[in-house]
This record gives sequence, C-alpha cells and structure tokens, in this order.
Amino acid sequence: MISDMAKRPAWFYNEYQQIGTDFEDPAQVATYYRNQTSSTTESEQALVAQLNIRPGHTVIDFGCGAGTFAIQAALAGGRVEAVDISQTMLTNAQKQAVAAGVQTQIQFHQAGFLTYEHKAAPVDVIVTKLALHHLPDFWKLAALLRMAAMLKQGGSLYLQDVIYSFNPVEYRPHIQAWIEQAVVTDDAGWARRDFETHVREEYSTFSWILEGMLQRAGFKIIEAEPVSSVWAVYLCQKV
Ligand SMILES: C[S@@+](CC[C@H](N)C(=O)[O-])C[C@H]1O[C@@H](n2cnc3c(N)ncnc32)[C@H](O)[C@@H]1O
Repeated sequence: MISDMAKRPAWFYNEYQQIGTDFEDPAQVATYYRNQTSSTTESEQALVAQLNIRPGHTVIDFGCGAGTFAIQAALAGGRVEAVDISQTMLTNAQKQAVAAGVQTQIQFHQAGFLTYEHKAAPVDVIVTKLALHHLPDFWKLAALLRMAAMLKQGGSLYLQDVIYSFNPVEYRPHIQAWIEQAVVTDDAGWARRDFETHVREEYSTFSWILEGMLQRAGFKIIEAEPVSSVWAVYLCQKV
C-alpha cells in the first residue's frame, strides 16, 4: 500500500506515481479497454493454455489491469495473486471476477512490482503484460530479481511489453512508423497522444537490454518472439 513507501529508503522508486497513462482515471481506463485488442478473453484463454495452467497451479499477474488474464487462469483452476497499483483497475477486475464466479480463487493486491510482498509459497507461473515499461531500467532489474524470488525453480515467467528491437540508429523512423500504424482512435486510449506519451514519458527499452536483465535476474529465455520491432514476448524459466 502507498503508506508502505514511508518505510522504504529515500532513494527507493515510487512506483505508485502514474507516469504517462493515468490508470487511476476511470474514463481513461474505460477508453483504454474499449480500444485495446491485446487482452481479450480469447487471447488470455490461449495464454492460459500455452502456460498449461491447471488446477493446483499458483500464479501471480503483475499489472493485472482489468483482470482478464487472472480470471481465465482462475477458470482453468489456478489460484491467482492479481497485483496492480491502480485501485480503479482492481475494482474493475474484482467486479469481473465476481461475474465470472472466481472471486475466491483470486486475491487482489494494491501493490506493484517493487512493493508486493508475496507471503505464500513460490508460485508456478508469473505473468506480466504491458506493465514492466512503467519502471525505469534499473528498477526493472530490481523487479525481475523480486519475481525470480517469488517463482519456483523451473517455474515460468511470461513477459509481454512494448520492447524495441529496431536498429538504434534508426529510432526516429521506427518510433514514428509505430505510432502511425498503432493509433486506433482520436479519443483517449490508444490515441496518438497515448503513444507519444508512452515514448516520451514511460520506460520501454531495447530487447538486448531486457534480455541481459532477464539473464542476470536468474531466468533462462526459452522463447523470445519479437512480435514487431516495438513489441516482444518472452517465455522464461527460473534456473
Ligand atoms: C497497459 S495496462 C495492462 C494491463 C493488463 N496487464 C493487460 O494486459 O490488459 C498496465 C497496467 O500496469 C499497472 N501498473 C503500472 N505501474 C505498475 C507497477 N509498478 N506495478 C504493477 N502494476 C503497475 C497499471 O495500473 C495498469 O493496470
């Protein structure tokens, strides 16, 4: 919780500050989910199947947002810790979990990568989609180290995010081309200004930096899929 920040050293990153998109604003959250296609019931069902989540499995979803993945993981029999800094997101997710009848299988936590305290046994799977870019690189590594400590030996980390794999020399045309093709609306939530804000104020980084961090945090990269030059998916195993 936010009051926990007071117990941390003065140099500790405040991950509760909203950088870029404001996921506490119910209007922004509503338009974001109206326009996005990256977390649908079908895509999250496919991810649950890919990760082979089944009864008895334990899962943490960092940056769970509206809870679509967490709910599908729970419907497959998993027990889920759904973690997000945004109370607005968590309230939405809780309502969806009740509607799906899985509220007893999901624990919701208003916390983040750097502040969530995992009190139970290490888990089988950690998922984080479109959230790690909210941390600067130094703190991404701190977050990955914490995730490794929460995962069973041999457990899986699935990471999806805006991650750059273009030639750095060509950053300007690649960023511009991404924004041109990604904009789906003129209002908020996947609008031009959201992508511009993402690049200017959030902390998406290069694949070679993130891969170095994953390895240093104790993960073996099993699959690395650059979905495009600005979007990547990693399936990793804790070694
Ligand atoms: C773009 S949304 C993605 C939500 C969800 N994973 C999905 O795929 O739909 C990013 C989420 O990360 C959350 N977030 C931002 N910073 C965070 C942090 N430091 N720790 C955990 N969650 C964070 C935001 O509140 C928001 O719900």
